[in-house]
Amino acid sequence: MTTLGILGSGNIGATFARLAVLAGHDVVLSNSRSPETLWPLAAALGPRARAATAQEAADAGDVVLVSVPFGRYRQLSATALTGKVVLDTGNYYPDRDAQFAELDAARATTSGMVQEHLAGAQVVKVLNNIWFHHLGLAARPAGAPDRSTLPVAGDHPDANKVAAGLLDELGYDTLDTGGLVDSWRFERDQPAYVAPYGPFDMSAGTTPVTADALADALARATR
Ligand SMILES: NC(=O)c1ccc[n+]([C@@H]2O[C@H](COP(=O)([O-])OP(=O)(O)OC[C@H]3O[C@@H](n4cnc5c(N)ncnc54)[C@H](OP(=O)(O)O)[C@@H]3O)[C@@H](O)[C@H]2O)c1
Repeated sequence: MTTLGILGSGNIGATFARLAVLAGHDVVLSNSRSPETLWPLAAALGPRARAATAQEAADAGDVVLVSVPFGRYRQLSATALTGKVVLDTGNYYPDRDAQFAELDAARATTSGMVQEHLAGAQVVKVLNNIWFHHLGLAARPAGAPDRSTLPVAGDHPDANKVAAGLLDELGYDTLDTGGLVDSWRFERDQPAYVAPYGPFDMSAGTTPVTADALADALARATR
């Protein structure tokens, strides 16, 4: 059992929290407002969940999920996250996040930018390429024939392993794709982004994604 800090408890953060609680972890939820606004979610998740400030959530665990709109990443406290394994789910949507020239010119990756900002943390890009609805639906125990595979990328191999171990407990196989410099391969609109896991439809199910299928989608990425 681990305590996981969560910065951003929206679609992805809350789904991750639910899977983590089901796997026996404690979670500390936070958002950009006050803990009170997360009391209903914490209550629904049960005694393993509590709501706190972003600072308290960052302090709470060695592993911290960062699931805020990408354009806000500079609001994250580099000091609070120093020494942490940071699981970064962000994607770049210019209409929501404003324009970032280095991404528009394909000179950077979103998680590479987060790593640069959080210089003392070990950033792992995870969960950005699966729709939150599928993330909740597709989790399976280890060894299940219809288990799906998610990519992880990061510049600190031990942190990638921590992320992979956690995702294994939450219901997913993983494929370590290496450093952040290549993590554009599963950013927005690439073949490995969202679509392989099923239709973008709340009433539809999910499609299991094998490691081979994921590797094939990553190999087809173009930039
Ligand atoms: N939705 C998906 O299926 C999906 C899938 C994969 C990846 N992603 C990516 O993951 C990120 C989060 O997506 P989402 O759909 O979960 O977003 P969301 O539902 O809009 O939730 C965002 C959360 O971030 C919080 N937040 C904003 N600024 C913050 C700050 N400075 N400190 C702490 N918390 C802050 C928000 O709090 P308040 O409500 O208080 O503002 C909210 O709890 C995005 O980059 C998105 O592109 C989303």
